[in-house]
Formats: sequence, C-alpha cells, structure tokens
Amino acid sequence: MRVLVIGGAGYIGSHVQKQLLEEGFDVAVFDDLSTGSEINLLPQTEFIRGSILDKDALNEAMGRHIDGVVHLAAKKAVGESMLCPEIYAENNICGSLNILNAMAANGVRHIVFSSSAAVYGMPQYIPVDEKHPIRPINYYGYTKAAIEENMRWYSQLGKLNYAALRYFNAVGYAADGSIRGKEKNPQNLMPIIMEAATGKREKFSIFGNDYDTPDGTCIRDYVHVSDLAKAHTLALKKLAADNVSFAVNLGTGKGTSVKEIVDAAEKVIGKKLNYDYAPRRAGDPAILTAGAGLARELLGWQPEYTDVEKIIQTVWNLEQEQN
Ligand code: UFG
Repeated sequence: MRVLVIGGAGYIGSHVQKQLLEEGFDVAVFDDLSTGSEINLLPQTEFIRGSILDKDALNEAMGRHIDGVVHLAAKKAVGESMLCPEIYAENNICGSLNILNAMAANGVRHIVFSSSAAVYGMPQYIPVDEKHPIRPINYYGYTKAAIEENMRWYSQLGKLNYAALRYFNAVGYAADGSIRGKEKNPQNLMPIIMEAATGKREKFSIFGNDYDTPDGTCIRDYVHVSDLAKAHTLALKKLAADNVSFAVNLGTGKGTSVKEIVDAAEKVIGKKLNYDYAPRRAGDPAILTAGAGLARELLGWQPEYTDVEKIIQTVWNLEQEQN
C-alpha cells in the first residue's frame, strides 16, 4: 500500500512515516517545511515539497498511485488560533478541503486525519469518550471538528472512508533516536521544560496551582508519539480492510498532573528546574483524560508507554545529543 503522509516532516508526521516504513508501507511525504524539518525524513521516503493550499501540487501528488492518505498538516497553537483565526481557516479548513477534493478527483479512498481532543471543548465528564458532545471552545478545535464533519459528509456521499484520530497530549520522541528534528517555536509543556533544562529559557511557569486536583495543577493524558504513530498504521489497515469510517480518541486513559510531569523531568534530567507558579491559563480544563476503550476495541491499539519517566527520557536523550 502506498501512502501519502501530508505533514510528514513534522513532529507527529515523521513518527508516522517511520512506523509506516517499519510495517512495509511505501511512503511519500508531502510537506511545505513551514514547521517540519527535512532531517526527519528517512532515506526510504520519497519527498514532495508542496503546500496544501496548492491544489495543482496536491492533484499531482495524489495522481502518483496513492492508496491512502495520512493528513497531519495543520497549524496547532490554540492561543494563536484565537488571535488569527484567518490563518487557521485557510490552513486547517481550506487546506484540508483541498486534500479531500484532490482525493476524490483521483479516486484515493482512505484518509487518516489528525484530529484533537480539542473538538470536545470543556469536558462535561471525565474520562471523555467519543460520545461526549463536540463543542470546541477555541478556533483550533473548531477547525478540527469542521473537517471531521466534512469527512463524514464525503464518506456518506461515497467519496472516501476516514479515520479521525483525536489525539490527547502528544509527547516523547522515537526511542531509537532516528527522529531528530525538534519543533520550531514550541508551545507545549514538554518542549518548554526542555528549553528550561538546557538553558535556552531562563525559567518557565506552571499555569495555576489552585485547580480542584490532588496537587492543584492541571491533569492531562500524555501519550507517547510512537504509540500515536502505531495507531495510524492500524487505522489505515482498518480502512483498507473494511469499508468503515470512525472517530476515536488516542489517549492512555491515565492522568498526570503538570507538577508530576515537572517532578519526573527533574528526576530524569538529574537537576532542579527553574520554575514558578503563574495564574491559570484561559481555557484550560482542570482535568482532561481520554476514554480510550474504543481505539482498543476497533483497532486493537494499546499504548506501550505508560511510564512518564520513560517518556521524558526519550525527549531528554535527544536534547543531550543536540547540546
Ligand atoms: N502548561 C504549563 N506551563 C507551560 C505550558 C503548559 O503549566 O508553560 C500546562 C498547561 O496549562 C496544561 C498542561 O501544561 O495544563 C499541558 O499544556 P500543553 O500546552 O502542553 O497542552 P494542552 O493540554 O493545552 O493542549 C494539548 C494540545 C492541543 C490540544 C489540547 C486538547 O497541545 O493541540 O491538548 O487536547 F488541543
């Protein structure tokens, strides 16, 4: 099976590329390198440099005997999406519709789409399963929900079948060190901790210690990127084997607080980190963990990384190698 990984030079996409190659898929990566890095591309991967806003480039790529698409090309900074929705509308919505249309035009049937727990908005109950209402509270989450809805229509209209994978908090790097490109201008907790650990940043802040959680800091469901990658290959196989479409959560079901992450990072790194407590960040729920049963049931997906220190070790190994 030949797979076009759109956004395959990025953080999650490059791990998906690696997993696909390891399972014997033929892989082409389509990426504009706006946030991804060419060093993430493995030698067996064919690289097509192009933008999802370029319909001709997409058509050309889809015409190269593609059997399935994994689409991970998106802007993903929640805060920025509230300040510049136009950028998110264009990239995440127009760009994704271009992909669906190029697929339909070229008879490419299967798409695995990077969605997000952000589609649920403020959790009404925990853990959040797939039956939870879709009520995004930021524009980024809305763009993901909008594309899920379009894929549902395209699927009902017989154009394609899809898997929407709703990621919880992606962390870690491939344990064998083969993916080495770090994210540019990272906004998430783990890379920020790493910047503080390596002196690139003087200190960081924990946003809020007055939440209704055991240590007062927010609880999230951190899932290793190699486990996420594995779910993509399982989903592609499912799409190819059965004519189904589905949306599933990708999380471990286990919650870890920000303070627990920071403590675990200090342990792995072997030194105290410079941080303080700052006020809550707008839009952060106290607890967000996944109801993870459906991915297991539908795909047989089972995360292998359950230990936070082991996950952080994979990030720290990369930092040490590069500093
Ligand atoms: N945090 C800090 N300090 C920081 C950065 C983050 O305390 O400097 C805290 C946040 O307040 C939050 C936790 O660390 O409690 C995790 O924050 P991230 O920004 O790493 O991740 P989020 O949970 O906010 O967001 C992630 C993805 C989004 C997705 C969202 C919902 O990055 O794309 O999960 O699933 F929308």
